[in-house]
Formats: sequence, structure tokens, C-alpha cells
Amino acid sequence: GSTVVVAMDGPSGSGKSSTSRAVAHRLGLRYLDTGAQFRALTAAVLDAGADLEDPDAIAAAAATTRVESGTDPQHPTITVDGVDVAARIRTQEVTDHVSAVASVPQVRQRLLDLQRAIIGDGGIVVEGRDIGSVVAPDAEVKLYLTADPAARAQRRTAENGAADVDATRADLLRRDSIDSGRATAPAVAPDGAVHLDTTPYTLDEVVEQVIALVRQQT
Ligand code: C5P
Repeated sequence: GSTVVVAMDGPSGSGKSSTSRAVAHRLGLRYLDTGAQFRALTAAVLDAGADLEDPDAIAAAAATTRVESGTDPQHPTITVDGVDVAARIRTQEVTDHVSAVASVPQVRQRLLDLQRAIIGDGGIVVEGRDIGSVVAPDAEVKLYLTADPAARAQRRTAENGAADVDATRADLLRRDSIDSGRATAPAVAPDGAVHLDTTPYTLDEVVEQVIALVRQQT
């Protein structure tokens, strides 16, 4: 099988999840959503009642938690200690706290080990904030997806149904600033990544561009 690693980084609402899944499916690759893993650990930390102002308490709660990711792009799964948390990780409560949890170095190290184990010999599209920079710096294909904040907020609001656009936009920008400002593995456009501003394109158009790029670089 293929040993390619496609690293897909970018902020939320950039189109990275939909694009990654579609590209993985079309090319017969596995798919890993690392954001879902950070969200899963956040759910576990919340359930443990840890003080979210205390990085050591977050690290302690995360240390005893087992996260498992299923990598079929058509049916990605995520569990915490064997329990399906797919719905839970999309709640506002988790979204509100995930960037704080993801800034704790021990949390990142634990997931880094897991992410590298899953990537293994490749054949996978991996999406996140630090994939091309830290998790898989040797990835053959690195992409950095962006979109206008207004477009990002519009997409997220449509996905979430209820939330209003202004609140969603404020929330996206708040998370961007925490994610790109943290000391350990900040969200960045990796060196050598192809930048793609998805604002003017449909999902299908973005998928076609990424597939063309993967074929050209492998
Ligand atoms: O991609 P998603 O928006 O679901 O990610 C949720 C959060 O998880 C991000 O805002 C970020 O704090 C964290 N994250 C991260 N590193 C990654 C993926 C996600 O810090 N590779």
C-alpha cells in the first residue's frame, strides 16, 4: 500500500476536515483527526473535574486516559477509555476548553506518541495544527489551508446549526490566538507547506486541487 503522509494544517473553518476526509477516501488512504484527540482528552479532563487553571492537574487527568482513533475516512471514530465520545467532543463545553488543554506540554507529548504510532508507515492524511511542523515533519505533502474569518465563521455556524455567526467568529479568533501563541508546538504554517486559501472555492474544488498536488508530489 501507499506510504505517503499528507499533513494538513490550518485553523478551524478552513475546510481542513472535510477536505482531509474526502482526499483520504478518494486516494484510499487512512485519515487521522488530531483535533478530535485533543477534544477527547479535554472531555476526559472535564469529567475528571480537574482545575482547568492548573496545567499539572490537566496533565495528571490526561495521563490516565486512553484515547483511540479509528482511521477509516468514511467512518472516523474516537473513544476515551473505550467509550464513544464522537458527539461529546463537538459540544460547546469542550470547544470552550480545548485550547487550554492542548497548550499543556504533557498533553501534547502523550498525543504525539499516539499520533506517530497511528501514522506508522504512512498511507494517511493527518489534520491538525502542528502536523507538518512537529508530528510529521518528513511528510511528503504539506498543506496549509486558510480562509477569511467571515467564511470560516459562516461554515462553522452552518455546521453547528444554532450558534450565531458573530459569536462563532469571536470563538474562532480566540482559539486561533491561544493556539498560535502557546509555547509548545504552536499552530503555524509549516516550512515548505503549500498554502491554499479556500475562501473562493467549493469543497469539491479544494479536494481536486489537493489530489492533484498529492499526485504531483508522490
Ligand atoms: O481541529 P479542531 O478545531 O477540532 O481542534 C480543536 C483544538 O485542538 C484546536 O483549537 C487546538 O487547540 C487543538 N489542536 C492542537 N493541535 C492539533 C490539533 C488540534 O493543538 N494538531
